[in-house]
Amino acid sequence: MDILPFFSLGAGFLFYALIKFFHKVWWIPMRIQFLMGSQGIRGPSYRFIYGNTKEISTMREKSMGGPMELSHHIFPRLQPHLHSWFKLYGMSFLQWHGATAELVVTDPEFVKEIMNNREQYYPKPEADVFTKKITGDGLVASKGEKWTKLRKLANHAFHAESLKARVDTQEISVEGIIDECKTFYTAGHGTTTLLLSWAILLLAINTDWQEKARQEVLKVLGCGRPNSEGISRLKLMGMIISETLRLYPPAVSLTRKVQREVRLQNLILPANMNLNIPALALHHDPKIWGEDAHLFKPERFSEGVAKATNNRPSAYIPFGLGPRVCVGSSFAIDEVKIVLAMILQRYTFTLSPNYIHSPIQVIAIRPKHGVQVVLHAF
Ligand code: HEM
Repeated sequence: MDILPFFSLGAGFLFYALIKFFHKVWWIPMRIQFLMGSQGIRGPSYRFIYGNTKEISTMREKSMGGPMELSHHIFPRLQPHLHSWFKLYGMSFLQWHGATAELVVTDPEFVKEIMNNREQYYPKPEADVFTKKITGDGLVASKGEKWTKLRKLANHAFHAESLKARVDTQEISVEGIIDECKTFYTAGHGTTTLLLSWAILLLAINTDWQEKARQEVLKVLGCGRPNSEGISRLKLMGMIISETLRLYPPAVSLTRKVQREVRLQNLILPANMNLNIPALALHHDPKIWGEDAHLFKPERFSEGVAKATNNRPSAYIPFGLGPRVCVGSSFAIDEVKIVLAMILQRYTFTLSPNYIHSPIQVIAIRPKHGVQVVLHAF
C-alpha cells in the first residue's frame, strides 16, 4: 500500500496546526502590541507564549512572601506589577496574560463607559468549564436572554417581593435553581466573610471609630435585636463599611472582553483583547482620594460616594458598576451591619498580640493568618 498520501496528509495537518498556533501566540500579540503602541499605549513587552505571567508571579511572590507592617498601604504589596508599570507606562497600559492582551484602564471616564455599556461591546470573558462547575452556570457567568431572566428573578428575590419571585421561579428548571444556589454561595459567602473580617480588624485598631459605632448602635437599637428599620439608620456604620470596602475590596479587579473592534473614548480597541479595571488601584489612588488614601478615614463617606471621590464615583467600585453590578450588595451590607451591631452591643475588642498582618490576594484579598481579636465583655 502506498503510504505517501497519508504521510503528506499528516504533514499537511501538522503544518496547518503550527500556522494556527503561531498565528495565535505570535502574530496576533504582535499586531495588537503594534496597534496599541501606535495609539500611545505602551506596556511590558509580550514574551512568547507566557506573556508577562512569569514576571508578574515572580514580583508577587517576592512582595507577598512575608508579613508587612500594620498599615493599609497594600496596593504595592498585592499588585507590585501594576504599581511599577503605572509608573513606567502611565495609568493605561497593555499587559499580557499568556497570549491574551489585557488593557489596564484606570481613567474613571473609561471605567464608566466600559461598565455601563448596554450594547454588549464589553461582555464578561467566558468562564472555563471547570469554574462553571464549581460556581454554577448562573447569574455571574450568564449572558444575553438567560442573564436578563435570571437578573430579574434575583432582583425580586433580594427585594423581598416573594410572591412575584415565586411565580417567576416556576419558569426556571431545577438545574437552574441549583446553579443559582452555587452562584450565590460562591459570589456571596466568601466576599461577605472577608468584608466582615477586615471591618473587625479596622475597628480593633481604630478604637475611636469602634466607640463611635457602638454609641450609634446603642442609640438606634439599644440592646435589642437589630431590625431592618434600625439597620438602615446606622449611618456611621455604613461609612465604616464603605471605607473597609475601599481599603480592602474583596474583588481586586474586574475584567471585560472586547467582543469586536470598538472605539473607547480616543482609542480603537481590536477584538479579542481583555480590559482590566483594577478596583484596588483605583481605591488607593492619591489623585482621587488625596495623600491620605491608605489611611482608614470613614469620614470621607459622610456625604456619599460622589463627594468622597471628588465627583468621580466610578473610581469606587467594590460591587462593580452598571447593569452587572452586584445583585447582593445591600444584602451583604445588611448582613455585616447585623453582625457588627450584635458584637458591638456586647463587647469591646482589641487586636490580639498574635495577629500577623499579611494581606494576600488569592482571588480575593484575604488575611493570610486570619484576624485575631480579644473580646472584652462589658
Ligand atoms: C461584600 C460582599 C460582596 C462583594 C464585595 C461583591 C462584589 C461583587 C462584584 C465586584 C461584582 C461585579 C463583578 C463584575 O462586574 O465583573 C458582583 C457581582 C455579583 N454578585 Fe456580589 N459581592 C458581594 C456579595 C454578594 C452576595 C451576598 C451575593 C448573593 C447572595 C452576590 C451575588 C452576586 C451576583 C449574582 C453577581 C453577578 C451579577 C450579574 O452579573 O448580573 N454578591 N459582586
